[in-house]
Amino acid sequence: MSPRKIIIDTDPGQDDAVAILLALASPDEIEVLGITTVAGNVPLALTSKNARIVCELAGHPNAKVYAGCDAPLTRKLVTAEHVHGKTGLDGPVLPDPVMPLQDGHAVDFIIDTLRSEAPGTVTLCPLGPLTNIATAFQRAPDIVERVQQIVLMGGAYFEVGNITPTAEFNIYVDPEAADIVFRSGVDIVVMPLDVTHRALVTKARNDAFRAIPNRVGPAVAEMTDFFERFDLEKYGSAGAPLHDPCVTAYLIRPDLFSGRHVNVMVETGSDLTLGMTVADWWRVSGREPNALFIGDLDADGFFELLSERLARL
Ligand code: BDR
Ligand code: CA
Repeated sequence: MSPRKIIIDTDPGQDDAVAILLALASPDEIEVLGITTVAGNVPLALTSKNARIVCELAGHPNAKVYAGCDAPLTRKLVTAEHVHGKTGLDGPVLPDPVMPLQDGHAVDFIIDTLRSEAPGTVTLCPLGPLTNIATAFQRAPDIVERVQQIVLMGGAYFEVGNITPTAEFNIYVDPEAADIVFRSGVDIVVMPLDVTHRALVTKARNDAFRAIPNRVGPAVAEMTDFFERFDLEKYGSAGAPLHDPCVTAYLIRPDLFSGRHVNVMVETGSDLTLGMTVADWWRVSGREPNALFIGDLDADGFFELLSERLARL
């Protein structure tokens, strides 16, 4: 089978970085048409720089990176330096990128790619706030039905929230954009906190990354060393949750994940619960399912896949 064509829309972020590395390490299954950046964990200039640092770390300086929206559709940007550090990629010391950003805006790249590739052959993989995707859908409604699938990291049901008591960061930062995406009618797969909080980098898994005999493994170990402080303090968990790599792992090994087709709506009106993903896990609303909401994963299988693929870079 030919590899699946994807666009990674991202706000790196250590976990975004690992998701990108996994995709670039898996050319038999995934063809990365481009990487589009968005403001999220840190402002756009930094996410655009970090995406290129990661491509160069992977040995892919020819990857196409496009800068996108620098602020949510209607709200002021909320960032997460308290989790990811001042640069967004704190942890390893990595060189500034030499590869350039592509000319043109990420939203135009998304629109042009969906129009030029055969309908139903391009999957969007959002790993940050959904601003670029929603902007593309608003500006070019004809592309919506051309999307093969959206596999995104965002939201929560049982875990409720991480940035507020009821909202997960990516959805909270731009709830209006998330609302547009969830109402779009595109086939959506969601990696919520419910599953990503089970993808924990325990000490043994961190050691396995560090032991990979290339530059990438130790860098990933250092990223997760940094990133875990926040979750250890907050949740008392056994290590850093690798949220975003669940998206790219799903493209390679969907059998590692399980979930339910349910209806997911995004709260945009209430100050108290802004950005909450109301997932009808128990199917009590009568609303039509619009997403496959993932609830569990084979964590050992996921980390074996990661270590095996990162070793290829
Ligand atoms: C999500 O928010 C970001 O901090 C992470 O990169 C991930 O995409 C988790 O809530
Ligand atoms: Ca992210």
